[in-house]
Amino acid sequence: VNYKQSNPTRLYFGAGSIENLKAEIKEAKNVLLTYGKGSVKKQGLYDEVLDILKKNEKNVFELSGIKPNPDITSVYEGIDICKKQDIDLILAIGGGSVIDCSKIIAIGSKYDGDMWQRIKNKQFDLTEKIKLGTILTNSATSSENNYYAVISNEKETLKLGTAFWPVAHPDFSILDPKYTVSLPLAPTVEGVADISSHLMETYFHGQDTENAIVKIVDAELEALIKGIVTVGPKLVHDLSNLEYRETVMFLASQGLSTRLRHVVNGDWACHAMEHALSAVYDIPHGGGLAVLTPNWMDYIAPKRTPKLKQMAINIFGVSSDGKTDIQIATEGIEAFRKFLSDIGAPKTLGYYGIEKSSVDTLVEKALGGGEQIGLMCPLNADAVKEIITASL
Ligand code: NZQ
Ligand code: ZN
Repeated sequence: VNYKQSNPTRLYFGAGSIENLKAEIKEAKNVLLTYGKGSVKKQGLYDEVLDILKKNEKNVFELSGIKPNPDITSVYEGIDICKKQDIDLILAIGGGSVIDCSKIIAIGSKYDGDMWQRIKNKQFDLTEKIKLGTILTNSATSSENNYYAVISNEKETLKLGTAFWPVAHPDFSILDPKYTVSLPLAPTVEGVADISSHLMETYFHGQDTENAIVKIVDAELEALIKGIVTVGPKLVHDLSNLEYRETVMFLASQGLSTRLRHVVNGDWACHAMEHALSAVYDIPHGGGLAVLTPNWMDYIAPKRTPKLKQMAINIFGVSSDGKTDIQIATEGIEAFRKFLSDIGAPKTLGYYGIEKSSVDTLVEKALGGGEQIGLMCPLNADAVKEIITASL
């Protein structure tokens, strides 16, 4: 096993963790507050933060209206404000979309070239950014605890992942579950689906499962997946339950943190396919994953039976008595489908109005100019087409 680690984010987790904001903003003069379409105002977080910033005599600037599946135009707008107003702290209050957009603004403000071109060229070697803090309102992506950021360009119908390592990590993140209680049912379901997907994508790595380190990582991932499979359905039936919100917030921040992900190289084909769906149809990320993932599992079952069997037995408690490996694997996939059904996730892409006529475009976008996607089970264009078609 070979890997590199660096996570400089100071995470403040739990009730009242906003008390750490004062010390974190101490050095800043000009603060850019970034947020989405207004949920932070409705739930009161915006007023609370503004009050702290004003009491501490900060000059506050704002970038609002960052949309889900954020567009590069918001990045340009943010960079413009940062350069003109000499911003020395960006404070992102929201979910993955606001945080991702703010990460690219923070880096782009210290760079003279065009950020979109750089992202398209996969040149992720920039090393400077404006200090970035986040206050999370949607437990889903792990963006608060990692260096990834996903950004769309609607004009080019592209949605691209970025990995400015390690600079894009937020400098600090405040995680108080009370700020997620107002999240409505649909994005809560999508968040739970996204968390389960991050853990599954990591779990389906190509590493030798007999390696001692890999065994430890697998056991940790199995515990985390059991966690989301248990708490997810409870939360969607009791949205204001603070204890469930807290558990999901913890699982979300672990889901795509690099602590485990950098040790084993996960598959990530489902994310590549989903980003194509979001690019073309602007659908919620977690919803697309919920539809694709079980169909992907069906496709890989005959090819990667041992790992699916491991999932079935260790995560879903499927008994192996008198069954063939593929039967056990199939029961595991059905158990995962039941979890998705219990949380009320969409089952077909038709739910989002995606039709057969667009399959070829989606396949092309998913492959992103390459020959194949997916590390544990590489998929070529025909395989991607089969999975997307089965998902319609
Ligand atoms: O815009 P507002 O009004 O704030 O409403 C948002 C938005 O409509 C709302 N919301 C958030 N917190 C709320 C709330 N509504 C009420 N109460 C609250 N407490 O929820 C909606 C969705 O928010 P969004 O930030 O888009 O969701 P999420 O956190 O799932 O982020 C999705 C984006 O992250 C990317 C996705 O592709 C997508 O673009 N991802 C980022 C990753 C990363 N940085 O590591 C990895 C992921 O795999 C993912 O690709
Ligand atoms: Zn995701």
